[in-house]
Amino acid sequence: TGYITYDPGFVNTGAASSAITYIDGDEGILRYRGYPIEQLAEHSNFLEVSYLLIYGELPSATQLDDFTQKINRHTLLHEDLKRFFDGFPRDAHPMPVLSSAVSALSTFYQDSLNPFDEPNVELSTVRLLAKVPTLAAYAYKKSIGQPFLYPDNSLGLVENFLRMTFGLPAEPYQVDPDVAKALDLLFILHADHEQNCSTSTVRLVGSSEANLFASISAGIMALFGPLHGGANSAVLEMLDGIQAEGGDVARFVERVKNKEKGVRLMGFGHRVYKNYDPRAKIIKRTADQILGKIGVQDHLLDIAKELEETALSDDYFIERKLYPNVDFYTGLIYRALGFPTKFFTVLFALGRLPGWIAHWREMIQDPATKIGRPRQIYTGEKERDYVSLSER
Ligand code: CMC
Repeated sequence: TGYITYDPGFVNTGAASSAITYIDGDEGILRYRGYPIEQLAEHSNFLEVSYLLIYGELPSATQLDDFTQKINRHTLLHEDLKRFFDGFPRDAHPMPVLSSAVSALSTFYQDSLNPFDEPNVELSTVRLLAKVPTLAAYAYKKSIGQPFLYPDNSLGLVENFLRMTFGLPAEPYQVDPDVAKALDLLFILHADHEQNCSTSTVRLVGSSEANLFASISAGIMALFGPLHGGANSAVLEMLDGIQAEGGDVARFVERVKNKEKGVRLMGFGHRVYKNYDPRAKIIKRTADQILGKIGVQDHLLDIAKELEETALSDDYFIERKLYPNVDFYTGLIYRALGFPTKFFTVLFALGRLPGWIAHWREMIQDPATKIGRPRQIYTGEKERDYVSLSER
């Protein structure tokens, strides 16, 4: 079978050709469909960016209107799907709950099973964009024992999500526009990042011609891990830990450098960026602004800044080109907006959803796609003869 390249972690393997997102890790450049992330962050909104990623161009006013209306028509969950939430323990982590619920969409929409049926792929796309925020809000409501709220389609996607998450049936919920804007910005910044672990998972699962719901559900589980999306929760836990132990940042950094087992500077380092993550740059700038605007003072932000400063002037981090990544400051913002730590990675999933969808669709339409099936270097026993139980 010829020569096999050994590349653990796929550090040097280009597994797909893609026209969606461009990253230059040395220069700290990120573009969606050619548009610099800084411009999209300043001028666009999450729904428009979702359209751009999935369909390749910014929408015209009519296209955006049509897209918005289609999504609004699908925000409701099937009543039976709501009952899924009763089966999970109250303290369940919301990521596996979300993944299970997305997986279950395949059972409610059996018209979605053929990945080459384009009108149905379109419908699944809209269903996902519309229903995942509802599912996420219900996962939260379940965890705090509050009743589910039906979506209010007079609201925008982010506002609707905030209302379903924090609203109560008995009282009107006023969405704070600063909060909605902050979350919308964070969703834009998370919307795609080319062949990261979860997106590669979506593509790999999809390469077997599994449908969109199944592939996205697998992507959510890949995002769950602390080295990927789970890092945003892990950063907060790390900052909490440093504060609980007296706020000694230098001592924590020493522990990281000594490579104590399980101690990493969470929210630092990246496979591709060997420079400041452009998303982290925007987030850091806006963290102060947002916390100020909504009137939150958080000592953990001071610890985070001190931690960053200490790391960026330390040889260990300089030599390895370790910079803050997207997850370093986001948790502080999510916390200020009122989300519990456990829920942060769900917010990452909501943001990444259009990217996953765009990649799955690109993969399924690409004539070069083959089933993902890596090879291995076998390191086990040579052939040997079976020994009967009595002789072992
Ligand atoms: N703290 C301390 N040392 C680190 C860190 C860190 N956060 N990241 C990398 N290193 C060291 C690592 O120990 C290695 O050192 P040495 O050469 O002495 O063994 C060197 O830097 C190269 O690291 P690597 O693990 O080979 O790099 P990778 O490309 O395989 O891993 C990473 C990338 C993101 C998994 C890693 O940097 C990491 O674990 N970071 C912390 C978790 C995190 O913040 N993840 C979020 C990533 S960004 C967005 C997302 O996907 O969610």
